[in-house]
Amino acid sequence: MTDQPVDYEDIQGLVRFGYRRLTQACFLLLRVTNPDAARAWLAQAPVTSATKREAPPETALHIAITSAGLRALGVAEDIVEGFSSEFIVGMSSDSSRARRLGDLGPSDPAHWQWGGSLDTMPHVMVMLYAVPAEFDEWGRHAMSGAEEGFEQIACLTTSDLDGVEPFGFADGISEPTIDWKRDRPARDEELSDYTNLSCLGEYLLGYPNEYGEYTDRPLLDALRDPDAILPRAEDAPERADLGRNGSYLVLRQLQQDVEGFWGFIDEQVQGDPVRRKQLAEAMVGRTMEGEPLMGRTNEAIDGEDDPRNTFTYRSDTEGLRCPVGAHIRRSNPRNADLPPGPPGFISWAARTLGFDADALANDLVSSTRFHRLLRRGREYGVPPLEETGLHFICLGANIARQFEFVQSAWLSGLRFAGSRDESDPLIGNHQPREDGTASDTFSMPVPSGPDRRVCGLPQFVAVVGGAYFFLPGLRALRYLSRGQP
Ligand code: HEM
Repeated sequence: MTDQPVDYEDIQGLVRFGYRRLTQACFLLLRVTNPDAARAWLAQAPVTSATKREAPPETALHIAITSAGLRALGVAEDIVEGFSSEFIVGMSSDSSRARRLGDLGPSDPAHWQWGGSLDTMPHVMVMLYAVPAEFDEWGRHAMSGAEEGFEQIACLTTSDLDGVEPFGFADGISEPTIDWKRDRPARDEELSDYTNLSCLGEYLLGYPNEYGEYTDRPLLDALRDPDAILPRAEDAPERADLGRNGSYLVLRQLQQDVEGFWGFIDEQVQGDPVRRKQLAEAMVGRTMEGEPLMGRTNEAIDGEDDPRNTFTYRSDTEGLRCPVGAHIRRSNPRNADLPPGPPGFISWAARTLGFDADALANDLVSSTRFHRLLRRGREYGVPPLEETGLHFICLGANIARQFEFVQSAWLSGLRFAGSRDESDPLIGNHQPREDGTASDTFSMPVPSGPDRRVCGLPQFVAVVGGAYFFLPGLRALRYLSRGQP
């Protein structure tokens, strides 16, 4: 029972589509008040599948559930425990996780508008997307009856900024390509080039991931699913797979200080308009229009056909064209996630003297493919008129290895690629760390002479809410809404 074809009817459409045409969206955060009524509503909710229809949809509805939500819906504890530990404990559960994710000072979960404590933790999120003409009436209709089982704790509205995030940069350009056809050998040890093609099991539970492994998930005794509502597990055909075709969804409400960002940059360049744009673009790694600072190098990259993404950092180990600390280089170092400089003797020797150069090159590439994120966020508010930011959303089959690793090691890590005292210049938390280490510098190497260093970066992005959700397959949602046998 291996390598079954993908059942798109069982996968929520959000995994396959970003719904750019559906420019109006809002995310309703709900808490269960009456478990029977909540399950009854979930059972009939018109969830959109990943099947491609002749005409693109005008509306889409998705449902995601937190671990607190599974419990509130009456899911048995041993089933909840089959999910990953970070999903079970949640994003805001302990100070050590908060420190690792950079949720300190103004981003401390204690200050969050939602998700920072048990009382404000959503149970279920309903995500509504539509073309503007349909949104209100369809949304009202789709949500009718929900009030009998749920209370709404927040309605996260979004805004259509035409593909530009609130600081003014083109967004939504680089995404991994999912290997839906399951062509790629799951464990491709020979892989030594950066590829954009990513195994299905990196985003969906129940399929082999980039290690060739099935991620842990609740596999139930078939007796607990007598009507065979759930698919059977590929790797354990006698078990009912509650995870298959589901994904984890990370949501972070990231408030952006647009005035503070441009004000700081203006101060640095004394108002020079050319240098103003250059400095902001160096922080991101792309021009405001979305061109990579590496240029369109037209490198052949498996699974990638957008010319704005056909590049690696192979020819720029020093960061002369795109600073090593730039946001897109930190969040996906492509082929270059080891220090260009000499932070340790062994790495220095390997680099300088060429010891084991092949093994090192393989390591550079292979490690990035375990940390890809499928981004599905939406902006909110209209700058400069309203409070604005990003409802950052990413999907992945392993929250710890994907979102948490990228957020903590690459974006917040002070030692990323041999840097000192630096975290992501755009979105990093620039508070000094517990031991007093500074994190508010951004370096831009110049061809001769010392790096140009911008110091005293303020924090431009604050986390004001967040939670980890499970985005179940449609059969799993039906199973969960029937209550426990
Ligand atoms: C307010 C917060 C953020 C802003 C304004 C922002 C902005 C941007 C922009 C302008 C790009 C370049 C366009 C593109 O490739 O799509 C980008 C790329 C990216 N960002 Fe962010 N971002 C934010 C938060 C985050 C967070 C929290 C993460 C991960 C934890 C993240 C991960 C990524 C990734 C993976 C890419 C693609 C890099 C690549 O493949 O080249 N971003 N972001």
